Amino acid sequence: MSSITISEEKLSNYINGEWVNGEGKRYTPVINPANSETIVEVPLSTVNDVDNAVKSAKTAQKEWALVPAPQRAEILYHVGYLMKERKERLSQLLTMENGKVIEEARGEVQEGIDMAFYMAGEGRRLFGQTTPSELKDKFAMSVRAPVGVVGIITPWNFPIAIATWKSFPAIVAGNTVVWKPATETPLMAFELAKIFEEAGLPKGVLNVVFGSGSEVGEAMVHHHDIRVISFTGSNDVGRNIAGECGKQLKKVSLEMGGKNAVIVMDDADLGLAVEGILWSAFGTSGQRCTACSRVIVHENVKERLEERLLVEMEKLTIGNGLDETIKVGPIINTGAIEKIKQYIEIGKEEGANLLAGGYVLDEGEKANGNYFAPTLFTDVTPSMRIAQEEIFGPVVSLIPVKSFDEAIEVNNNVEYGLSSSIFTRDVNRVFAAQRDLDTGIVYVNAGTTGAEIHLPFGGTKGTGNGHRDSGLAALDVFTEWKSVYVDYSGKLQRAQIDVE
Ligand code: UN1
Repeated sequence: MSSITISEEKLSNYINGEWVNGEGKRYTPVINPANSETIVEVPLSTVNDVDNAVKSAKTAQKEWALVPAPQRAEILYHVGYLMKERKERLSQLLTMENGKVIEEARGEVQEGIDMAFYMAGEGRRLFGQTTPSELKDKFAMSVRAPVGVVGIITPWNFPIAIATWKSFPAIVAGNTVVWKPATETPLMAFELAKIFEEAGLPKGVLNVVFGSGSEVGEAMVHHHDIRVISFTGSNDVGRNIAGECGKQLKKVSLEMGGKNAVIVMDDADLGLAVEGILWSAFGTSGQRCTACSRVIVHENVKERLEERLLVEMEKLTIGNGLDETIKVGPIINTGAIEKIKQYIEIGKEEGANLLAGGYVLDEGEKANGNYFAPTLFTDVTPSMRIAQEEIFGPVVSLIPVKSFDEAIEVNNNVEYGLSSSIFTRDVNRVFAAQRDLDTGIVYVNAGTTGAEIHLPFGGTKGTGNGHRDSGLAALDVFTEWKSVYVDYSGKLQRAQIDVE
């Protein structure tokens, strides 16, 4: 299906501009979830490897911070052009290691390209403020200063987009990076590091250390010279990272789970709502933090919505994402399949009504991969576990409600707050909803996915810790504000005192 090949059998770390073998000499296979074939092996690096990467990043940072930001940005432009040139190669490799269908893989690579050009533009902005001083002949301004060495830990579900959300703003702002990609999807890290190398990034500015969270991730979080950790992944891991960073007073930006809902009101365009639900629930096989996993539907349209959803779900083609006709790809690994199966049992035991799916697909060639049927539960009540907990698979719970107010309440009454959506034609409800939905992202007449890179990305409550990826907000994670006062009066002037 794909003619793309990679020359390496074993990947290497990228430290101080060199491709080096991990000290531990241990490797783990990278498995294509569509057919269980081994694509490549990835090193399981050690604490010492992390230490080497941090040393190189620390040394490089001193000089990198002194390179004028527009010149730093030139490299990002170059990276963007190379990603554009290699978009098809990157997309196919992404589908091979992650499983998402090729059209979505192209979309994800595009998200990275967009971020390259957007953040490169920041090289000529990185705006601070100038403001009057309260004293005569005194000048005041604030500037963004790099934080130093930043550690980024990225997940397998968006292995290139999320890496660009974090590394591009960090690099343009004058930081250097130590990056631990997910071991399931190291190819995107490998390809992106090669692109940076070709674009002329000075050695040590970006370092990639492959390996497990428990070894490499831990070592990064504990490393004194890493001053920021930016993490996307599960809540359990995020909480531990935040605890440790808290003890060290280390800045930490967390992007974690979601239990995102589409609200369908009784005046909604039902055809459009069905399309929005299908795309955001079953795209990436539901393995997005932004995936729609709840549909909160007004009781007047519940039955019609169910019927239409079932008709359209029947049409979803499931299989190897490299096949252009496939709409839903595999699940990342067998562990994830087991978790989804458990939630199906939980849903049944809780008394939810299973309308479609709920089983592993293993007929024919699918037996070689990890496939799960798109699943729809209905008559779900808001407190059921399947309506509260993140499943991270193609499973949707339909929750009937009687009113707009109840819909908002059900939406908000979960631990998470990433994304939400409402389908309605009533402009009053639109504005009330965008005000009252307690999530970091709100969509009107669209599903819960589809964030664009120039807006902040992140969530409220258990989804994060108040920081955002993407958009201008990303710069706040990777910079410190420095306030600068320049007194040109030639005498001592005391603030708050010599103000007469
Ligand atoms: C994620 O699932 O972690 O809006 C990221 C979206 C994508 C990004 C998802 N642009 O769904």
